Amino acid sequence: MSIKALKGFKDIVPGEVETWQFIEKTARDIFHCFDLAEIKVPILEKTELFTRSIGETTDIVEKEMYTFIDRNGSSLTMRPEGTASVLRAYIENGLLAKKTVQKLYTIGPMFRHERPQKGRLRQFHQMSVEVLGSDHPRVDAELMAMAWLILKALGLSASLEINSLGCPQCRPAFNAALLDFLHKAENLCDDCRRRRETNPLRVLDCKSSHCQEQYQHAPSILDFLCPGCTSHFSEVKEGLDLLAIPYRVNSFMVRGLDYYTRTTFELVTNDLGAQSAIGAGGRYDGLVKQLGGADVPGIGFAMGMERLALLLEQQGKGVAATGMDLFVVALGAAAQKKGFALTHALRQTGHTVSMDYQDRSLKNQMKQAGKAAARFAVILGDDELSRGEAVLRNMESSEQSPLAIAADMDTWAGELAAILS
Ligand code: HAM
Repeated sequence: MSIKALKGFKDIVPGEVETWQFIEKTARDIFHCFDLAEIKVPILEKTELFTRSIGETTDIVEKEMYTFIDRNGSSLTMRPEGTASVLRAYIENGLLAKKTVQKLYTIGPMFRHERPQKGRLRQFHQMSVEVLGSDHPRVDAELMAMAWLILKALGLSASLEINSLGCPQCRPAFNAALLDFLHKAENLCDDCRRRRETNPLRVLDCKSSHCQEQYQHAPSILDFLCPGCTSHFSEVKEGLDLLAIPYRVNSFMVRGLDYYTRTTFELVTNDLGAQSAIGAGGRYDGLVKQLGGADVPGIGFAMGMERLALLLEQQGKGVAATGMDLFVVALGAAAQKKGFALTHALRQTGHTVSMDYQDRSLKNQMKQAGKAAARFAVILGDDELSRGEAVLRNMESSEQSPLAIAADMDTWAGELAAILS
């Protein structure tokens, strides 16, 4: 029996990968417009990095991490998200000393042992941004604008929902009011009953519809914000208004990770069924310090690439593979040698060229050229070769014309490259 990929782990094959390349290139171009620098961080980290940052009582840490003991007896985890790793790298590499405000992005796979469904995988990919060193509300608005611009450049749209989760100064009063409400709520699920004692905010994130119905009447965090958080949130909204980015305040949005303070946001769509968030993020002002670094504020977001690719495919905006410039059709030993050298010379001019090595008939090689969506074919036979001539076929119009073979290969390739360009 052949070996299959793991459940929730997906290959991205030719025909799909072009859409992924388009997403990644579009995002990279926009990251560049915002003066972001790329950072690459390892996929495997010490488990403690995630338990300390994401939070012991979150779904991710309690139920979803790929954690194992390695051969040295250390507990390691396949990263379930990028923020913790980027912050660890920021601290470890002394990036604060290099720039007071570091604007970083990273693109890569993440791992969560969730129940796979449309738009939800166990290995999925995020493009994520972290800005470290500024607590200015304009930065919050700017990051939401960045995510919005990426969607716009991809030809997609989503609704932006925003909230403020307050800070360590105002959160305790809200937690107390929430706890009071939760003690009065009836028939909460086991997780919520357990979590209300350890981490009341987390219960608002529960997936059970019965719990969610009751939480519609829970106290709103926005009624508990301290003056600092209130004015920060107002300025974030003002920033979005200045940039004409539409948004909706959703005071029940708590996000599934514990590190957030103040601004949180999600980009949601109705087009993906249950997995409606195509991007999300927020501020995490105490996190760098909590991970052993300086007291540096931070904010970031991540977009799920599978969900973006799904939306593009669904809306007929997927990207097809580009065809090649030229297919060399060679018949006879001498022609095959000449054709082989021609492919090498033309590739050096930056063109996509291929040929067949199976000694197939003219008809079959032409079929191959068609399948490869080649724009042109050069047909070379031993007889023509001896006369210093080949045939150039425009595959789209089927027009054929004689093509003189220059004595020197580089000259010939140069002449052909000019036709192809
Ligand atoms: P998150 O909300 O857990 O946030 O994930 C961000 C995005 O990743 C989601 O909106 C979704 O598009 C995608 N995503 C998450 N889980 C899956 C999955 N199982 N399958 C497919 N896509 C998924 C974070 O990860 C934070 N680190 C974001 C952040 C960065 N906050 C501050 N900086």
